[in-house]
Order: sequence, then C-alpha cells, then structure tokens
Amino acid sequence: MVRQKVTLLFFALAFVWCCQQALKGPEYYDPAALATFFDGSDFVGSGTCRECHADVYKTHVETAHYGTSAYPEDGNLLGRFNPDDNKVLLENAEVELVREGHSHYQVIRPRAGDGPMEKERIDIIIGSGVKGQSHLSWSEDQLFQLQASYYPPADCWINSPGFPSQMLRRPIRDGCLKCHVTFATNKDFSGQGNRYEKDEMVLGVDCERCHRPAGDHVRFHRNNPDLESPHFIMKLDTLSRQQKIDVCAQCHSGPRAGILQGNSFSFLSGETLSEYSRNFHTGVSDAELDVHGNQYGLLSSSACFVNSEMDCGSCHDPHKNERGLRATFVDKCKQCHVSPDAECKADASIQQERKGNCVSCHMPNFPSQTMTVRLDHIGEAPVMVRTHRIAIYPPEKWEKID
Ligand code: HEC
Ligand code: HEC
Ligand code: HEC
Ligand code: HEC
Ligand code: HEC
Ligand code: HEC
Ligand code: HEC
Repeated sequence: MVRQKVTLLFFALAFVWCCQQALKGPEYYDPAALATFFDGSDFVGSGTCRECHADVYKTHVETAHYGTSAYPEDGNLLGRFNPDDNKVLLENAEVELVREGHSHYQVIRPRAGDGPMEKERIDIIIGSGVKGQSHLSWSEDQLFQLQASYYPPADCWINSPGFPSQMLRRPIRDGCLKCHVTFATNKDFSGQGNRYEKDEMVLGVDCERCHRPAGDHVRFHRNNPDLESPHFIMKLDTLSRQQKIDVCAQCHSGPRAGILQGNSFSFLSGETLSEYSRNFHTGVSDAELDVHGNQYGLLSSSACFVNSEMDCGSCHDPHKNERGLRATFVDKCKQCHVSPDAECKADASIQQERKGNCVSCHMPNFPSQTMTVRLDHIGEAPVMVRTHRIAIYPPEKWEKID
C-alpha cells in the first residue's frame, strides 16, 4: 500500500517536472543577449530580472530612468500630432509633426524659397517627459536628432534645446546617448561618429547600467534556483562612498567630455570614475556650475555633504519614482536635522506657511544656463532644475509653492 503511494507520488512529481521543463522551453536557461559589453559579458534587460525581482521591476518601470529613452509605442510620445497643435516655426524653416498609421514623422520645409521638403520618422524618444522629449531618427545606420522637441510645461512643440534654428540635423554621438541609454555600440569606438549597430542598443537607464551586465547572474540563478546568496553580480551596498556616488555621477556630474580611457560607455559600477573621464570645465568655480545635469558637483559643495557621509542614496531610492513626494524628502532631511542645534533657525511662522517644506527654501528650482528653449510668445526661456547646493537662500529665491 505504502509502496504504491510512493510510486504514484514519484510519477506525479516526474509529470510536474516534465511539464515545467516543457513550459520553460529551450531558451529558459539562456536569456537572449540584447548587447555585448566590451569584456564579453552580456546585457539581458530588465524583462529578465522580473521573474526573480518582481518588486524592484514593478517600481523600476515607473521611473524617469526607465523611460528616458524608448521606441515609440502607444502612450509614450507626449507631443501632439493633430493639425491644430502640430507645428513649430524655426528661423528659416517650418516644421510639422504628422502621424501615418503606426508611425510618426517630422516634415520640414524652408520658409522662403522652394528648397526640398524632408520627411523623417521618429525612431527613438529621448526624455521621459518631465521637462521635455527630443526625437531621434535613423538614416541607414546614422542617428540624428530632429529639429522639433516637445515641451510639456507649455504643452507645445519647440526647437530642440540649444539647437540652431536651421535645416541642420544634429548627429547623435556617444556624448549625447551615454546618459540616456544603458548601452550603445558605436561603429567608431571613440564615439565620435554617429553610426551604430542598431540591434545592439539597450534603451532606458535600465538595471544593468547600475548593476553591470547581468547575463551570467541570470544563467547562474536559473540553474541554481535554491541558492539564496547572490552570484555574478556587483554588491553596490558594499562599495565605498565615492564608488557609490560614481554610479550616479557618471551621468549627474556634468558632460564629462574629457575621456581618459576607453569610451563613454566603458566605466562600470564599482570602478573609479575619475580614471575614466573628467569634466572639461574643471576649474569653473562652484558658483558657476549649472543646475542641469550636475547634481553631484552642487551637492558636494554643500555643508550637508561636507560634514556627513551623505551620498545620493541618503535621499533617493533608485528603484522608485519619487517625484513630488514632499513628505518623503522632508523625512530625509529630518533624519540628520533632529537635535535642537541642528534644526532650522528660520522663524517658526514662515516655516509653517510653507508647511515645513525644507526643500522649497533650501533646494529651490533655478533656471538652467545651458538648457534653454525658444517659445513663440516669450522668446528664449530657461528650463528650471532643482539645485543640489543645499544652502540658505534669500526669500526671493524660494520656490513658489501652491
Ligand atoms: C533566476 C533568478 C534571478 C534572476 C532572473 C535575476 N536574479 Fe538577481 N538575484 C537572484 C538571487 C537569488 C539573489 C540573491 C537574493 C536577493 O538578494 O534577492 C539576487 C540578487 C541580486 C542583487 C543583489 C546583490 C546584493 O546582494 O547586493 C542584484 C543587484 C541583482 N540580483 C540584480 C539582478 C538583475 C539586474 C537582474 C536582471 C538582469 C537579475 N538580478 C535577475 C536571482 C535572480
Ligand atoms: C552628462 C549626462 C547627459 C548628457 C550627455 C545628456 N543629458 Fe539630457 N539629461 C540629463 C539629466 C541628468 C537630465 C535630467 C535632470 C537635469 O536636468 O539635471 C536630462 C534631461 C534631458 C531631457 C528632459 C527629460 C525629461 O523628461 O525631463 C531631454 C529631452 C534631454 N535630456 C535630451 C538630451 C539630448 C538630446 C542629449 C544629447 C544631445 C542629452 N540630453 C545629453 C543628462 C544628460
Ligand atoms: C539608477 C541605478 C539603479 C537602477 C536603474 C537599478 N538599481 Fe538596483 N540598486 C541600485 C543601488 C544604488 C542599490 C544599492 C542600494 C543600497 O546601497 O542599499 C541597488 C540595490 C539593488 C538590490 C539589492 C537591494 C534591494 O533593494 O533589494 C537589488 C536586488 C537590485 N538593486 C535589483 C535591481 C533590478 C532588478 C533593477 C531593474 C529592474 C535595478 N536594481 C535597477 C541602483 C540601481
Ligand atoms: C546612465 C545615466 C544615469 C545614471 C547612471 C543615473 N542617472 Fe539619474 N537620470 C539620468 C537621466 C538621463 C535622467 C532624466 C530622466 C528623464 O526624465 O528623462 C535622470 C533622472 C534622475 C532623477 C529625477 C527623477 C525624476 O522623477 O524626474 C533622479 C532623482 C536621479 N536621476 C537620481 C539618480 C541616482 C540616485 C543615481 C545613482 C544611483 C542615478 N540617477 C544614476 C541618467 C542617469
Ligand atoms: C546625512 C545627513 C544630512 C542630511 C540627510 C541632510 N543634512 Fe543638512 N546638514 C548636515 C550636516 C552635518 C550639516 C552641517 C552642520 C554644521 O555645519 O555643523 C548640514 C547643514 C545644513 C544647512 C546649513 C547650510 C549652510 O550653508 O550653512 C542647511 C540649510 C541644511 N543642512 C538643510 C538640509 C535640508 C533641507 C536637507 C534635506 C533636503 C538636509 N539638510 C539633509 C547633514 C545632513
Ligand atoms: C539631501 C537630500 C538629497 C540628496 C543627498 C540628493 N538629492 Fe536629488 N533631489 C532631492 C530632492 C528633495 C529633489 C526634488 C524631488 C521632487 O520633489 O521631485 C531631488 C531631485 C533630483 C533630481 C531631479 C532634478 C530636477 O529638477 O528635475 C535629480 C536628477 C537628482 N535629484 C539627482 C541626485 C543625485 C545624482 C544625487 C547624488 C549626487 C542626489 N540627487 C542627491 C534631494 C536630494
Ligand atoms: C520658509 C523657508 C524655510 C523652510 C521651510 C525651512 N527653512 Fe531652514 N532656514 C531658513 C532660513 C531663512 C534660515 C536662516 C535662518 C537664520 O540664520 O536666521 C534657515 C536655516 C536652516 C539651517 C541652519 C541652521 C544653523 O545652525 O545655522 C538648517 C540646518 C535648516 N535651516 C534646516 C531646515 C530643515 C531641515 C527644514 C525642514 C524641516 C527647513 N530648514 C525648513 C529657511 C527655511
């Protein structure tokens, strides 16, 4: 009797196992490589991480990082394509944005004379749409930025920031892509050219930009499902303070155009960023640093940073979209500013007027010097970015709050 049951159980288990294997299919153990890094390791994409890190994946896909570059699909192109709202005038050309079937195009013609009309497809979107979206187009294997960008604060099309208002297309090189994609393979290793391997591009700032290419990690854990300790993956929480900051500073410390070794994509988390690149305007005083894209430069000039072990993770959870979560950030300030002598010295009444919003007085938004847009009714207007120089500012600099 007992033996019969054991045999039955054995067959039942064997059946379940076979079914599982059949469902997994031949590709289960070997994730498809999206691109190959210079050392031969492969990127497999966040879709692969989902099966074992479902929680992180779920919030990651809601972040500005994940959405900062993408192929156009339903809902992620924010600009308008209906005939009333789809035009922008450049100095010497007019631009129209049109939808045809599932594709979207930019049509550009000169305002005077009868130069040629050009029609280019929107192939890649840059920007999650917090402050703007730019659009890139393939011409064979060459990548160009289109002249029209979308500007959410005014809900209209504008000329691409910093873009000459002419019928010129800006070639997109590694120096532009490096902060908005996880990885790209430029046919010219130095990154000076704009010819790419189209199917070796990993869009978005995805898991593997911060955690290194993870093909081996996935293969190992799929083959060893019972092992709970991590293998073949960088442990970011064991890094030094500077190494942790470098993970973010590769994209948040200015253009870093001075390449010292490899190319724009060579640096890997856990390494020392200053051995790979430096900012060509080292030497500019702290006061002249631009708010756009240089959070590290500004933060490191703050008393908070100098007098504590603070890093970006002291206030930000890299896996979550925390934009506008005022209370979350105020709590972070209060983690250090607890004792009476470390508390705010401003009048209690003015603090209350602002509902204790430390950030609106000590980290207000400032106009960017380098990122400006041209709006029809105002002319040249700066894009506002939050300063990371935490300091005491006069009331006229405080952010307007509702
Ligand atoms: C087949 C399962 C599996 C897949 C797929 C998987 N992981 Fe993991 N991962 C694990 C296990 C198990 C651990 C160790 C336990 C834990 O930390 O959750 C781990 C841990 C980690 C850690 C933490 C390391 C540490 O301790 O600091 C990171 C980071 C990580 N994985 C990244 C990724 C990324 C990125 C992907 C997708 C490219 C991925 N994992 C896909 C199983 C997997
Ligand atoms: C050194 C890194 C870096 C480079 C290079 C870079 N960007 Fe950015 N970009 C950022 C950061 C960081 C932000 C958002 C925060 C800020 O403004 O500081 C941003 C914001 C944007 C936004 C607005 C996104 C949004 O949703 O708010 C657009 C559009 C954009 N960049 C396009 C470009 C284009 C096009 C290029 C190349 C010509 C480029 N960027 C080069 C780092 C970079
Ligand atoms: C912008 C960079 C960045 C991105 C993108 C990112 N991570 Fe992380 N991740 C970090 C940092 C930094 C830490 C370490 C936090 C700490 O110091 O404890 C971390 C920690 C982890 C851990 C271990 C601790 C924990 O929170 O569970 C896992 C697992 C992990 N990440 C998985 C992922 C996966 C999977 C994705 C994509 C779905 C992803 N990460 C995307 C930066 C990033
Ligand atoms: C590969 C480049 C890259 C890396 C690495 C990177 N970022 Fe970013 N980050 C960006 C870009 C680009 C944006 C603008 C995204 C957009 O809106 O399109 C951004 C936006 C942000 C934002 C604003 C999010 C929002 O909701 O608007 C925060 C906060 C941020 N990054 C923090 C970090 C931290 C912390 C790290 C390190 C753990 C990090 N970033 C690593 C490129 C990067
Ligand atoms: C990791 C700890 C830490 C966090 C988090 C932190 N601070 Fe600080 N902060 C400090 C330290 C330490 C000082 C220096 C105090 C001193 O000079 O003795 C400081 C100084 C300051 C000063 C004085 C600046 C000056 O130039 O005199 C202000 C204002 C301030 N912090 C505001 C904030 C705000 C607002 C936040 C949240 C957005 C914040 N801090 C988050 C540790 C922190
Ligand atoms: C003391 C807390 C604190 C630290 C440390 C900190 N940040 Fe922030 N950061 C903030 C707050 C607060 C905001 C505004 C968030 C909001 O309201 O959406 C912000 C916003 C941002 C933005 C969006 C800026 C904009 O205007 O769109 C970026 C990018 C960013 N942080 C990157 C970083 C990076 C990179 C580091 C590390 C070098 C860092 N932060 C360290 C508090 C901090
Ligand atoms: C209404 C704007 C406003 C708000 C809100 C505000 N502060 Fe202040 N804070 C100030 C001003 C102004 C000073 C300078 C006061 C003085 O020296 O007379 C100051 C001073 C400080 C100092 C320096 C104290 C010293 O010892 O010199 C710290 C630290 C600080 N604030 C932290 C915070 C924190 C943390 C919060 C949120 C809980 C906060 N502040 C909210 C305006 C503000």
